[in-house]
Amino acid sequence: MNVVESEVKALEEIARASSLADLEEVRLRHLGRNGVINQLLSEIPELPRQEDRKTAGGLINSVKEKIENALEEKDRELKKKDLKEIDRSSFDITSPGISPHVGSIHPLTQFREFVRDTFSRLGFEEAYAPHLEEDEYNFGLLNIPPDHPSRDLWDTLYLEDGRAMRTHTSNMQVREMRRRKPPIRVMTFDRCFRYENVDPHHSHTFTQFEVLYVDKDVSMGQLRFLSDLFLKLVLGEKTKTRFRPKYYPFVEPGVGVDALCPFCEGKGCRVCGMEGWFEIAGAGLVHPQVLRNGGIDPKVYSGLAWGFGPDRMLMIKLGIEDIRYFYEGDLRFAKQF
Ligand code: PHE
Repeated sequence: MNVVESEVKALEEIARASSLADLEEVRLRHLGRNGVINQLLSEIPELPRQEDRKTAGGLINSVKEKIENALEEKDRELKKKDLKEIDRSSFDITSPGISPHVGSIHPLTQFREFVRDTFSRLGFEEAYAPHLEEDEYNFGLLNIPPDHPSRDLWDTLYLEDGRAMRTHTSNMQVREMRRRKPPIRVMTFDRCFRYENVDPHHSHTFTQFEVLYVDKDVSMGQLRFLSDLFLKLVLGEKTKTRFRPKYYPFVEPGVGVDALCPFCEGKGCRVCGMEGWFEIAGAGLVHPQVLRNGGIDPKVYSGLAWGFGPDRMLMIKLGIEDIRYFYEGDLRFAKQF
C-alpha cells in the first residue's frame, strides 16, 4: 500500500466509525505498534536514495499527523453523541452523584501499628508463627504435656491429625529460640483461636500480642519496666501496673499483670466492674526447661515473655462493649475509629 492510499483509507474508516470501540480499532490498525504507519516507516531504509528516504519520512509523518487529528476530532464527536443519548434517556445527568464509600482502618490494625512501632523502638523484631500449629509448639515444648491438667487453661480446637488452632501466640517462643541466637528480642501481634462459647467477652477468634526477650541477666525488673511503660502509653499516665502471682507452665515465676483503671483511678466504676483494676496481661520469666527446649542454656541466659489481649485492651480504651464487633466485618463499626 502506498502512502496516499493509506491516508485515504484511514480517513474513510475514521469517518465510518460509529462507536468509541470502533474508533479504537481503527486507531490500532493504523497507528498501533504493528499498524500501517509503522509498517510504512519500516520500509524507508529500503529506499536506495538518501533524498527519497527523507521525502518518504516527511510524507509518512504528515499522514500520521492527519490521521491523529481526524481520530481526535471523531473521538470528541462520538463522546458528545454518547452524552446526548444518555440525556435523552431517563437518566438525569444533572443530579448529584453518589459519593463513594471512604474506607477506614480497622481499630485492631491501627492498634497493631502503634504497638509494633512502640516495641520496635525498644529493639523488638517482628516474628510470625503458624495459626494451625503442632501440638508440641503450642503445648508440649511449653511444659504442657498431653493429659496435664494445665491444658484446661486453654480450650482448644483440634484437627483430626492432632494439630490444633493455636490457642495463644506463645507458640512462637520455642520456634523463635530455635531460629535465633541470644540476645533475642521478638514480638508478634496476631490471631489465636479457642473453643469458646461466644459472648460479649469471648470469641473463638481473638488477638494476642506477645514479646519474648532472651539475654544474659533478664529480670523481673525489666518485665516490670516493659509493663509499666506500655500500659502508661496506652491507657495514659495515670494508670499503674500491678503484678499478681499467676500460674503459666512456661514461665517461672509467672504473673498476671493488672492495670489501674484509668477512668476511676482505682476507686471502682462501671468500666472496671467496680474492681479498680483490669487484668491485662500474662507474663513471667521463661521457664528453664522452655529455654532448653529452644536450645538455650538456662545457666547462661534468662528470658522474659509477656503477652496481652489487644481486643480487651481496646474494649476498655474505646468503650467497645462486645468483642465480636472486631471480627464481624461490619463497616459501621470500623468507621467509628
Ligand atoms: N500465653 C498465655 C495465655 O494465652 C499468656 C502468657 C504469655 C503468659 C506470655 C506468660 C507469658 O494465656
